[in-house]
Amino acid sequence: MSVDSMTGKVVLVTGAGQACGRVIAEDFAHRGASVVVNDIDGHAGEETVRRIHAAGGVATFVKADVSVEAEVAALVEAAVGTYGRLDVAVNNAGTEVPVAIADSDSADFATVFAANLEGARACMKHEIRAMRAWAAERSSTCRR
Ligand SMILES: NC(=O)c1ccc[n+]([C@@H]2O[C@H](COP(=O)([O-])OP(=O)(O)OC[C@H]3O[C@@H](n4cnc5c(N)ncnc54)[C@H](O)[C@@H]3O)[C@@H](O)[C@H]2O)c1
Repeated sequence: MSVDSMTGKVVLVTGAGQACGRVIAEDFAHRGASVVVNDIDGHAGEETVRRIHAAGGVATFVKADVSVEAEVAALVEAAVGTYGRLDVAVNNAGTEVPVAIADSDSADFATVFAANLEGARACMKHEIRAMRAWAAERSSTCRR
């Protein structure tokens, strides 16, 4: 992919406050995309945006917990409200099981299932709806 291959595209990256998500967000910004940086940790997410801006990129932070569908809906709405559409979504937010499975009970897995499974489902639902809405709008503009 050439460095400017994502110019004009809008990309949402969940869990982009550190590690893999931050690298993914920075890479899309480097390629010219406008990036919506999401994380449950406001400080970490703002730091990713600061780094992207310092490198000359375009990014906005939206705090949301992906395991709460209402927050996911607001996140996607904020992305579309800020940049007008959504082209790409990277559902990276997730968490680890905090104990060895041999020592675990179902409560230990509740957060993991909520963020890693239910969170991914809720994100895809709202992202796909936003992508379809943009595609429908674009095709009706083309027919005019
Ligand atoms: N790093 C690995 O070796 C590895 C291996 C397999 C899978 N994964 C998965 O890949 C993803 C990224 O890995 P990583 O190592 O960068 O993880 P990480 O734990 O370093 O970072 C995850 C980010 O997601 C955020 N986050 C957690 N729960 C959230 C929620 N409910 N809503 C919004 N943000 C939330 C955290 O604040 C953090 O910034 C994770 O989903 C992880 O489970 C990682």
